[in-house]
Amino acid sequence: MPKPYDPRDAFYRRAKAQQLRARSAFKIEEIQQRFRLARPGGAVVDLGAAPGGFLQILARAVGPAGRVVGVDVAPIRALGGVVETIQADVMAPDLEARLREKLQRPNADLVASDLAPKTTGIRQADEAKSLALARRALDLARALLHPGGHFVAKVFMGGEFDAFFAAVKGAFEEARVVRPEATRARSREVYVVGLRRR
Ligand SMILES: C[S@@+](CC[C@H](N)C(=O)[O-])C[C@H]1O[C@@H](n2cnc3c(N)ncnc32)[C@H](O)[C@@H]1O
Repeated sequence: MPKPYDPRDAFYRRAKAQQLRARSAFKIEEIQQRFRLARPGGAVVDLGAAPGGFLQILARAVGPAGRVVGVDVAPIRALGGVVETIQADVMAPDLEARLREKLQRPNADLVASDLAPKTTGIRQADEAKSLALARRALDLARALLHPGGHFVAKVFMGGEFDAFFAAVKGAFEEARVVRPEATRARSREVYVVGLRRR
């Protein structure tokens, strides 16, 4: 039986202790350790970045010569260093141009997405919204990544998941499904990783 929902679980407490802004930081940390998606000096886009847990881990991974640009509809308290943010809806048509400007490079090495819709409790509707966000993340990744670049996106399992996974497989040499340890037991979320943009 899944453990009861505990908003202050061990990952929450570890995040607090390490001054990480969200427990989700441990999800990208695990994925980063496994696949080395972000490299020193690399340029990274983080979609659905508030409050900034992913940004903290990704900034560490690219180091002082890298660049990380986070996007969210919600404001993100400044992190400084190599991190820049854009407050916008990811569906905004001018986002790709704004990202290139902030990246200060023509292409990105990694596009990460932890985008999640406000859930309604209506399973099919929530899955559809999650997939629409993941598809938008994939479109931006296709546009921004250079060949060899990587992609990771959260998506709720169900609905059109197989079609989304097939699209990732088509755009990348290798595609994987990962469920990080920090994912809550009851959650239907997984991360789709696309390695080496074709
Ligand atoms: C799970 S949270 C991200 C947590 C973040 N990765 C971290 O580590 O701090 C999901 C985020 O997606 C954002 N979001 C959802 N729909 C969005 C949209 N259409 N455009 C921009 N951000 C969106 C939400 O505002 C929310 O901050």
